[in-house]
Amino acid sequence: MKNNIYTNTNTFAITTPLYYVNDLPHIGSAYTTIAADTVARFQRLQGRSVLMITGTDEHGQKIQRTAQSKGRSPKEHCDSVVTGFESLWQQLNIQYDRFSRTTASNHEKIVKEFFQRVWDQGDIYLSQQQGWYCVSCEEFKEERELLEDKYCAIHTNQKVEWRDEQNYFFRLSRYQEQLEAFYQERSEFIQPESRRNEVLSFVKQGLQDFSISRVNVDWGFQLPIDPNHTIYVWFDALLGYVTALLDPDSEPTLENALSKWWPINLHLIGKDILRFHAVYWPAMLMSADLPLPERVFGHGFLTKDGKKMGKSLGNTLDPFELIQKYGSDAVRYYFLKEIEFGVDGDFSETRFINVLNADLANGLGNLLNRTLKMAHKYFNGQIPNINGEKIEVSHSLKKIGISLGEEVTQAYASLAFSKVCEAVLVLARACDKYIDETAPWSLYKQGQLETVAEVLYSVLESVRLAAYLLSPIIPNISNAIYQQLGFSNDFNDKSVINSSEIFVKQVSWGTLPGNQILGQPQPVFQRLELIETVA
Ligand code: MSP
Repeated sequence: MKNNIYTNTNTFAITTPLYYVNDLPHIGSAYTTIAADTVARFQRLQGRSVLMITGTDEHGQKIQRTAQSKGRSPKEHCDSVVTGFESLWQQLNIQYDRFSRTTASNHEKIVKEFFQRVWDQGDIYLSQQQGWYCVSCEEFKEERELLEDKYCAIHTNQKVEWRDEQNYFFRLSRYQEQLEAFYQERSEFIQPESRRNEVLSFVKQGLQDFSISRVNVDWGFQLPIDPNHTIYVWFDALLGYVTALLDPDSEPTLENALSKWWPINLHLIGKDILRFHAVYWPAMLMSADLPLPERVFGHGFLTKDGKKMGKSLGNTLDPFELIQKYGSDAVRYYFLKEIEFGVDGDFSETRFINVLNADLANGLGNLLNRTLKMAHKYFNGQIPNINGEKIEVSHSLKKIGISLGEEVTQAYASLAFSKVCEAVLVLARACDKYIDETAPWSLYKQGQLETVAEVLYSVLESVRLAAYLLSPIIPNISNAIYQQLGFSNDFNDKSVINSSEIFVKQVSWGTLPGNQILGQPQPVFQRLELIETVA
C-alpha cells in the first residue's frame, strides 16, 4: 500500500489512548480525553471532517486478574467498566465518533490479518523471554529502571514479577535505522520536543526485539500460528486504533479500515506510554508496510503531592464528583488552562475555584453581564447599530481582536491550550479596562450616544469572539454567551456544517450584526464557593 492513497488534508483523525478497564476512569483518563475532544472540536470548527476515537483496552493479565479478584468473568467485568467510561464521556460533553473495544469481534479479525502480514515479513520468531514484568504497565522493565526492592517506577506500590517463558518476539531491532531516518525526516512526529529527545536517546541505545505473545494469559486473542499463546495486550491494543476506523457495517479487513481516515493525524497519549506509540507502533506499521501516523503528543501527568495520580496508588480524584459539583465546562477549562499541556501539574481545589472565579465568573461572565445590562438600558435590548468593520484598527479592542484568531489557531494547532485561554483573557481584560476608562454610563448622561454605541458594540463583539474561540474548551458557556448576544448557534451540535470561510468570518473582529435583538442578561457562570474538599 502506498502513502499517497491515504493523504487527505480535509479529514482529521485523532485518538485518545484505549483505556484499561481495570477500574472506573479517573481524572487522568479524563484529562487526555478532554484535550482530544477540544482538538476535535476546533478542527470541526475550521470545517474539517473529523473522526475522534476513544475506547478501551480490555485484554491481558491486568484485566484478567482484576476480574478474578472481583469474582466475575473478564467479559462481564469489562462490560460493566465500559459503561462507566461511556457515562463519564457523556457527562464531560465528549463528542467522540468511535468507541473502540479491543474485545470486539471485528477487532480480532483486524489483529489477525495484521499479525499475518508481520509474520509473512519474517518479523516474528519464537524465543525465551526472561525479565521483570510490571502487570500494571503490562510491560517488561529493565532492572536499571526499577526502584529499590523491585518496585515499578510508575506504579510505585507494585512489585514487578520475574518471568522466564517462551514467547514470540517482534523483530524491533530490524527497524532501528529505518526508525532513526524517519524521526529525522519527520521531526514533528513526536511532540513536545522533550519527549522527542527522550525517544531519540532511547532508540540510540539500540533497540531490542520485544515479546508479543503470552503463555500464561488466557484473556486475549489466540495467536494464529500457535494456539498455546495469546497475543500480547499492547500488540492487540495499538491495532484498536485501526479497527476504530472501520465504518460500522463494513467488513473488517485492513483495506477497508485504512481506506478513509488513515494515516491518523494525532495520537494523544500520556508520557508513560510514549515508547509504545513512538517506537513500537511505527515499527509494527513499517513491518506491515503501512504509512505512519502524523503526530504523537505525550502530555504530562496530573499529580498529587508530586506523584502520578492513579488507581494503583489510590491518590486520584473522582471526575464524576468534580463534574457534579462544578459542571463539565469548569473541569474542562481548569485542566486545560492551568496545566501547560506537555508537563506535569498538581491539582488543588482552592486553585481550581480561584481560577474559575477569576476567568469565567468575574472575567468573561461579569463583562458580558454588565455590558448587556447597559445595552438593554441604553439601546432597547439591541446591539448598537455599528458596522464593526468601520471601527478604526487603532481602537484598543479591535487592535487585539483582529490578530487573536490567528494567534489562538496557532496555539490550538500546537496543543498549547493554556496559551489559548491566556490570549483570550488578554482581550477580556482589555475590555474591562476600556469600559472603566470610557465610563459609558457618564457618556450616556452627557448625551454622547454615538460613543456609547461604539463602546458597547466593541465590548460585545470582543466577548463574542472570546466565546467563539473558547467554544472547543467551554462549549456550554460559549452557547450561553452566543444566545445572550441573540444568536442561535449551538456549539454542541456536531451536525452543523462548518467551513473554512465561516471560520474565517467568525474569528474576524467586527462581524457582530448591529440591531440584533439581545437575550436577557443572566450569569453564564455562577461564582464557585469551596464547599468541601474533593478526594
Ligand atoms: N491501555 C493502555 C493504552 C493503550 S493505547 C493503544 C493504557 N491505559 S491506561 O488506562 O493505563 O492509561 C491511559 C492514559 O491515561 C495514558 O495516556 C496515561 O498516561 C493516562 N493517565 C493515567 N494516569 C494519568 C495521570 N495521573 N495524569 C495524566 N494522565 C494519566 O496505558
